[in-house]
Amino acid sequence: MQKIFSGVQPSGNIHIGNYLAVIKQWVALQEKSDCIFCIVDWHAITVPYEVKALQQKIKEVASIYLASGINPEKSVIFVQSQVKEHSELAWLLNTITPFGDLQRMTQFKDKSKKLQGNVNAGLFNYPVLMAGDILLYQTDLVPVGEDQKQHVELARTIAKKFNSKFGETFKVPEVSVLKIGAKIMSLTEPLKKMSKSDPEPSRIGLFDTPEQIRKKIGSATTDSDKEIKFNPKEKPGISNLLTIYSLFADKPIKDIEKEFQGKGYASFKSALADLLIKKLEPFRNKKAEFDKNPEFIEKILTDGANRARKIAQETMQKVRTVMNL
Ligand code: TRP
Repeated sequence: MQKIFSGVQPSGNIHIGNYLAVIKQWVALQEKSDCIFCIVDWHAITVPYEVKALQQKIKEVASIYLASGINPEKSVIFVQSQVKEHSELAWLLNTITPFGDLQRMTQFKDKSKKLQGNVNAGLFNYPVLMAGDILLYQTDLVPVGEDQKQHVELARTIAKKFNSKFGETFKVPEVSVLKIGAKIMSLTEPLKKMSKSDPEPSRIGLFDTPEQIRKKIGSATTDSDKEIKFNPKEKPGISNLLTIYSLFADKPIKDIEKEFQGKGYASFKSALADLLIKKLEPFRNKKAEFDKNPEFIEKILTDGANRARKIAQETMQKVRTVMNL
């Protein structure tokens, strides 16, 4: 069976854009592949983070995985730091990764700029840790958003280099760039992408309450026209809301335009709010469930780490042997 590995960082506020672009699309892969979905806490701490909130964030990502339909009986869900082999392999891969390759990573350049040079070595080596994540599990396919493509390509390069230096050890993984056909834009500034770090009214969080959803959709930026038509250039706000509606309702935009022909923005927004409230209910429920009963998620993560560790240990045994460690 094809082996799939991917991960999400327990950082920031995971919103509907993140969900639609990545996690929602993983769910279908479970049927015909062996999937491992990681919560990559060691990546999340490469930028300043709220120390006290980290465990809460980890549990939130686990709830999101479960609420999205990832089945822990079938797929492995685990926390990166619970399988120490990730750090061991990352260190070893560091010794064959050219400094220049890491300097070229666009995400590193972007993040360094944002941090105004206040950058730690972990942020620089982040792609090597990620290569380790992937290679530990002899992964065939890595489904990620466009922004992570360069990192997976580096993982391929590192795998090939390791294999030619020390002998066939790693599967060389393929990248699958997930496409949703449209970016989800900010609700308040619809020409900008919805972002984990922008002010609250600009995004719908997966755990938002019905009241928050209604309020944010109600005050989403539109235009002074009345027509519910998809036209991202002239009507970016309404077009973005149509995209969101279409992806959550699994209906083509054309049908939604027809449905709301002649009805005003207010009635469209109110229908969209209803839809989101309904579709995000599983997320609120899963979170409430783990707030009440944290052992439930802890057990899934411990079990996942045990399953992951077994595979990781086998790979590390090979790596130590070929490197003569
Ligand atoms: N860097 C990825 C992101 O921010 C998360 C990640 C870490 C990952 N390790 C991975 C994704 C391995 C795929 C495979 O989205």
